[in-house]
Parts: sequence; C-alpha cells; structure tokens
Amino acid sequence: MSIHYDAERKTFTLATCNTTYQMMVNELGHLIHLYYGRRAEGTMDYLCVPRDCGFSPNPYELRSVRSWSLDLLPQEYSGSNAGDYRLSSVQAVTDSGVWGADLRYLRHEIRSGKYAISGMPSALDRGGDAETLSVTLRDAVSGLEVELLYGVFKQGDVITRAARLTNTTDKPIRLEKAASVCLDLPYGSWDLIHFTGRHTMERELNRAPVMNGIQTVSSLRATSSHQHNPFVILCDHAAGEDRGDCYGVMPVYSGSHRTDVELDQSGSVRLVSGIQHEQFSWKLEPGASFDTPEVLLAFTHQGLTKLSQVYHRFLRGNLCRSKFSNLSRPVLINNWEATYFDFTEELILDIARQAKALGVEMLVLDDGWFGTRNDDNSGLGDWFVNRSKLPNGLEPLIAEINRMGLKFGLWVEPEMVNEDSELYRAHPEWVIRVPGRGPAISRNQMVLDLSREDVVDHLYEVLSGLLTQYHIEYIKWDMNRSVSDVYSSALPPDRQGEVYHRYVLGLYQLLDRLTTAFPDVLFEGCSGGGGRFDAGMLAYSPQIWTSDDTDAIERLTIQYGTSFGYPISSMGAHVSACPNHQTGRTVPIGTRAVVAMAGTFGYEMDLNRLTDAEKEQVREQIVRFHAYADLIREGDYFRLTPVDSTQTYAAWQFVSQDCRETLVSAVESRPRLNLGPICVRLKGLDPDALYRVERQDIFGCRIPPERIPMGGADNVYSGASLMYAGYVLPLLSGEYPSVQILLQKVP
Ligand code: GLA
Repeated sequence: MSIHYDAERKTFTLATCNTTYQMMVNELGHLIHLYYGRRAEGTMDYLCVPRDCGFSPNPYELRSVRSWSLDLLPQEYSGSNAGDYRLSSVQAVTDSGVWGADLRYLRHEIRSGKYAISGMPSALDRGGDAETLSVTLRDAVSGLEVELLYGVFKQGDVITRAARLTNTTDKPIRLEKAASVCLDLPYGSWDLIHFTGRHTMERELNRAPVMNGIQTVSSLRATSSHQHNPFVILCDHAAGEDRGDCYGVMPVYSGSHRTDVELDQSGSVRLVSGIQHEQFSWKLEPGASFDTPEVLLAFTHQGLTKLSQVYHRFLRGNLCRSKFSNLSRPVLINNWEATYFDFTEELILDIARQAKALGVEMLVLDDGWFGTRNDDNSGLGDWFVNRSKLPNGLEPLIAEINRMGLKFGLWVEPEMVNEDSELYRAHPEWVIRVPGRGPAISRNQMVLDLSREDVVDHLYEVLSGLLTQYHIEYIKWDMNRSVSDVYSSALPPDRQGEVYHRYVLGLYQLLDRLTTAFPDVLFEGCSGGGGRFDAGMLAYSPQIWTSDDTDAIERLTIQYGTSFGYPISSMGAHVSACPNHQTGRTVPIGTRAVVAMAGTFGYEMDLNRLTDAEKEQVREQIVRFHAYADLIREGDYFRLTPVDSTQTYAAWQFVSQDCRETLVSAVESRPRLNLGPICVRLKGLDPDALYRVERQDIFGCRIPPERIPMGGADNVYSGASLMYAGYVLPLLSGEYPSVQILLQKVP
C-alpha cells in the first residue's frame, strides 16, 4: 500500500519509491501538513511545534491557548478569513455575503487506482500501481466542501493533487479563488526556479532565493504563455544538477495560471498553485461541484537532473494519451520558413520531392492553404482550401505526396478568426470581446469563444471533416495570440468570471474528442512557438513546437530551459535555413542538426536551395538521427553544462535506461582561442563498465578532422573515469562547431 492511515494519530502517509508525504488531522479538524521529502518512516507530528506569536490569532474554541494559531500551522489547503493571513487556497462567498472558509476534516477514503477530474486531462494509472486518497474538508458556515484528491504513483515517484469543491447548501456559492494545491514548507530555506520569456525566447531559467513577501508566477492570457511557464521548482540554496533537495510543481493546465510563493514572518514558505484567480469567479449552484486542474508534485534529494528525469518519464508514460508518446516520430519537413504564405502546389511538391530524396518522411503544409489566406490579415476561420493557391485542392497534392512515399501533415489554428473571413461575417457573436468596446487585436486576429458549446461543436465538425476527407497523418495546432477583452455573449453577467476557465475546458473537450476519434493522427501543439508549452497540452500532443526562434544557438538556451520540466521527445526542433530568419546568424548545418536532435528533429527550409555537399549532410543526418532516435526519446537526459552567457560551450547527454549506450553532444556557442582542452564529466554511466567511443562526429570545425587530436589510446574508457575525470572533447575551432559522440558499453 502506498497510502496508510493511522487512525489513532489521525495521520495519513503517502509513499512513493523515494519520497514520503505526511499530514494529520489536528484536534480542531484542520488538515495539517507534516512532511514532504525524502523517504522517511514514522510519524512526524513532532514537527508541528506550538508557538505564540503576537498578532497571530487563536481559534475561538482554543482562545485561551495562545500558542495555537492557524496563522502559524502548515496546512494542506489553506482557507481564508479565519485567522490565517498567509496565502489562501480558496475564497468562497456565500449568498449572504460571507467571505472565507475555515476548512475542517469531514471524512476520507483510500482506494486503489487513480481519481479522474472532469473536463481536464490528468495523470493516468498506466503502471497499475496508483492509489488515491480523498480527504473531504468542510466549512460549516458556507456549506462548502473541499475534497482534496491525492494520486500516489509509487514507481513514477510523483504525487498528483487536485481539489473538488462542492456546494452542499441550497443557495449559490461564489468561488473567487480555487487553487489546486497548497504546499507548506515550514523548515529550510529555498530558491525559487521558474521559467520566463517572450515570443521567440521562451523558458529562460530564473533562480533566486525566496524573499520575504510574495512572489507570483502567472498568466492572464488564457494560455500558459511565453512569459511565465506554469512549472516551478523550489530547491535548497546549494542544490545543483546532481545534488540537493528539489520540489517540482507542475500544473496540468493550459490556461491562465498562478503560482504564489510566500515567505512568511516566521520563515515558513507556502506555495499555492492553480487557476489564476484574477478575473476569476465561479458560481457554484446548490449541489454543483467545481474541479480544479491537477498538479504534479515531485521531490528528489538528488538535484535538478533527477527531478527533470522524473518529470520526463512521468509525462511520457502517465500523462500523454497519444500512442505516439513512446513511438518514434517521422522526420518532417515544414514549408513555413521555406515559403511563408507564398507557395503553389508545384513549389510544395518540389520541396517534398527533394526532401524525400534525402530521407525525410513527412511533409507539413503550414499556414496559408485555406480561405483567402495570402498574408496574416485574413482567412482564419475558413478551413476550406485556398483555390487561388491550390486550384486543384488538397486531394491531388496529398495523393502525390503520399505517392512519393511521404506522409502528409497540415497546420491549423482553430481557435482564431480574422475579421476578414466568412466565419466572422456569419458569426460575429462567436468572438471573445467586451460589448461596446473594440477588442484588442493581435496579428490582426480575434479569438473564438471556446466557452461556447456551439463554437466547440462547429470546430469539431470542421476539423473532423478535414481529417475524414483527407489523408492527414499529423496536425500542427497553432494559437497565435493571447486572449484579451474577456467576455462571452453566451453567459449571463454573474458568470462572466468563468470565461477564462470555460475557454480552456472547451479547448480540452475539442482536443479530447478529436484525439479520441483520430488516434492515428500525430498532434503537435504550438502557440507562436512555445507559448502554450505545458503539461495540459502534452496530454493530447506528444510534441510542441518549442519556439519560433529556430536559430540553433538561441535554441540552446530555449531547449535547456524547457528540459527542466518537459521531455526531450516533446520539443519540436527543426534545422532551418541560414542566415537564420530570426537572428541573421549563420551556423554550420551540422551544428544545426545536433541542436535539432535534442528534440523531435525535422527541417524547416527548402532543401532544394542547399549545395550538393549540404544535401549529402542532410541525408547523413537523417540516417544518424534514426540510429539515435530511441536513445534521444527514451534515454535519461543529463544537462552537462549550464547554458548562459558565462559558458563557451553547451553540452548534454542521453543515456539508455540500461546504461549500455550514451550520446554526448556539445556545441561551441562562443568562439574561444588559446584555451585549454575541455574535459566534460559524463553522467549516468555504469562506473564498473568499460565504454568504447563508437563514433565521434565533428561539425563546422575549420581544423580538418585528421588533425584533431584524440585522447584515449584505444578509445576505451571506464565508466568511472568518464564520470569522475571526464572525457576530453576534441579541440574545435571555427564558428559554432559541434561534436556528437556515441559511446557503448564493451560487452
Ligand atoms: C506560428 C508558428 C509558426 C508558423 C506560423 C504560421 O508563428 O509558431 O511555426 O506556423 O505561426 O503563421
């Protein structure tokens, strides 16, 4: 059993392979958090020490016990307006105007298997070892019940949490906040790591000590956003890649989110995470329930790499519904950066022919194939063929591409509409906008109101129609603006605070219906690159376009930041043309491929424009990628260097689960002269085994390969020496050279 209840001491203990989580019901019925961390046996109620603190009030029942205050106790789900001044997890308002919640234990249940939450993706019990703890708390005044749900994944080393809030009265209750999780860390002092950015530079790592006060990581864009990714880490100040206590908090949510971290007066840290509560208000009718999104919690005392590996495996194995999650994906060519909107059937076929000749397996037709879409000012919403560009329609194009032996994939942006479109002219009421105010426009497009059932049904009809009519094996699902002017013409005034969340529920319903009806279609998420790179979208699409910045050197930073939470197999990454269209930089094509191989791998250019020598390289890259594909997709991923301005090179490594094979990649990101050799310590190997360098491929180096000295007499090294002393990288010189080294265990 992973969940144990000690009836005498009223403690719940949850155990995964390497972690323990413990809570208890105290004398007044509050659910007190005791411990989350490294596996530890025994009851830890001794950690909860009574103390008196001025201006921290005492509950009425214990008013003479000055050392008892909710304001000082670690809790599983904090209430509000009842004597705890720290971050609340829930804000409820009754019909008679009473704010707050004082949540007390009502009942609990332990069952095998994993709970589900309605309308949103959540982790699946694929290994058959998950258990569920449900603890129901109740606020006597409002009649609000909060069922705290815990999913314990023993092998996965993950604990999931969500909350179900139910109105048990005969009057409506208004929820002004409904977080998924509250995590109190009464001891220790912590750094907060989170990932921020902007369009074309997503998920840059930020790390700083948690300071007194409250720090917020949030989005109000109805997407998880380029700006603040919802995934955060709390780790001890000394934690690094290989050591240190690290907590991960990953919401399975793709909409407006919020994580607040508070360092309180007594040095305790409280983290509350879930739906963004700004502009959120949910009317709970009598008897109705509201489910929060799920949050995936992980802990390790072994540092950030281990934490990432736990998430990588869990997202691939327990969250992503697609059969492609653990399958090798086709190497694709996307025409966006090759043609933008300016293409013809013949041009696409030319690109496809050349791509096929070099080993590419799928052609993806990007933006511009539909409606009157000749630039980004019109056409969104009209998902029928643009006859001026493709006079013969999609059918012969797909047939010809299939005849060449390529799969065919298509770009769509279903959530959007241009003012200049048939759809908008027919249904102006389907757009999210505040009545009487011209909505903020972005990329000249508006957002369809996915909180409306008729809009979701319409999109299902249109998209399932496309997938039925044409032989489409891949969909790139884009979303190219943030939502604003939030108001739904279909909801009454007292439900307008629900639009943000209902939008996400509509999106999930649509994705759920489509991916269930078309399980053989590979979906790739996208939002102007990585503006919606989150666990919610990964439940439906095993891969997401990581960034609209395809410059290989910029991608080092973006992919590095992304790797902390999300699997390498989920990062859409392509080799694009040089000079790069975003930065103007020129990087050797071999190095571009090394970087794209830390992702799904594909191309985003017209391969016809390459020289014969470059074409030969592309052919070889695809063969090489196939040889490494399983290792990249399912191997353990190790960051060997940070990627920041202090570094001259970036290195990373994949190790097969059985430690028999490892692939090391290194890119020189800043030219260096007269520096000594670089010795990089490898990770994750069997220290007692011998490893042989089977391949060492150098790209973009101006020194001829035969003049590059190699260390190691016979190219055989012990795992211990590679890990503790390191591997000496070949001396590279030139603009952005790189190296890929494959080592295998000597049998
Ligand atoms: C977004 C995507 C790009 C491309 C364009 C098309 O920016 O991220 O890859 O599909 O839209 O408009």
